[in-house]
Amino acid sequence: MDSLAGRVILVTGAAKRVGRGIALRLAREGARVAIHYGGSEAEARATAAECGSVPIFRANLERVPEIEALFEQVVQHFGRIDGLVNNAARFTKIDPLRITEADWDFIHSVNLKAAFFCNQQAAKHMLAGEGGRIVNISSLGGIRPWADHAHYCASKAGLIMLTKALAKAFAPKVTVNSVAPGVIPFGEHSPEIDRFIAATPAKRAGTADEIADAVVFFLSASNYITGQILAVDGGLSQK
Ligand SMILES: NC(=O)c1ccc[n+]([C@@H]2O[C@H](COP(=O)([O-])OP(=O)(O)OC[C@H]3O[C@@H](n4cnc5c(N)ncnc54)[C@H](OP(=O)(O)O)[C@@H]3O)[C@@H](O)[C@H]2O)c1
Repeated sequence: MDSLAGRVILVTGAAKRVGRGIALRLAREGARVAIHYGGSEAEARATAAECGSVPIFRANLERVPEIEALFEQVVQHFGRIDGLVNNAARFTKIDPLRITEADWDFIHSVNLKAAFFCNQQAAKHMLAGEGGRIVNISSLGGIRPWADHAHYCASKAGLIMLTKALAKAFAPKVTVNSVAPGVIPFGEHSPEIDRFIAATPAKRAGTADEIADAVVFFLSASNYITGQILAVDGGLSQK
């Protein structure tokens, strides 16, 4: 396993919650972290300060030109990019019979389309340099079907297949792997979350640091590990 010390790693959606946890962990591992955010500037600044005064970069990931500019800015700032943690996403619960085109696009524009173009931009810079590591944060919902989240499940299943296909496309210099979180709440409660936790073999929810463990593994692994999906879900995907 390679050390992450000195590695330039961009984490998308890193202002809060899981992304923040990943960024903090990467900073503790000695990586040079780039914090991306969309609307949460104050939280992004706070996370960046906690990471050791690292830079923050704003981009609306719905817009491909903003994704391209994001990667240009990161490479301009650090001179390189070694890792991408593609974490930003959206989540909605809507009966499939009531989903509108706008509801569909709201999810897919970020979870799948933006994810693809972030992978593309990262790979272009990494392939022109010394190679790199991409980790896509997918979801248990990309592995197991959830009736009222069909649109979200489809986006995350798409991200899982994208991970496998791009692992082939970008090999051998760039690896592409995915971490699929189970239930990772941040103080929110709902009957649905309670049902998921009750059904989880581990009998509890997960934490951002447990997701970060898996992210660090893929970022540090050799190029012999690529195209893989690691569910960090307390065993729920096995049920
Ligand atoms: N939490 C869970 O239980 C769980 C379960 C399974 C999978 N996951 C996956 O794990 C990852 C992190 O989960 P989370 O719950 O921490 O995510 P989240 O809070 O729902 O979203 C993370 C960030 O994504 C950014 N984002 C969304 N749309 C954007 C856009 N158009 N442009 C720029 N940024 C955008 C937001 O940044 P700003 O706030 O700056 O706008 C947001 O803070 C996601 O990929 C999620 O699907 C989470």
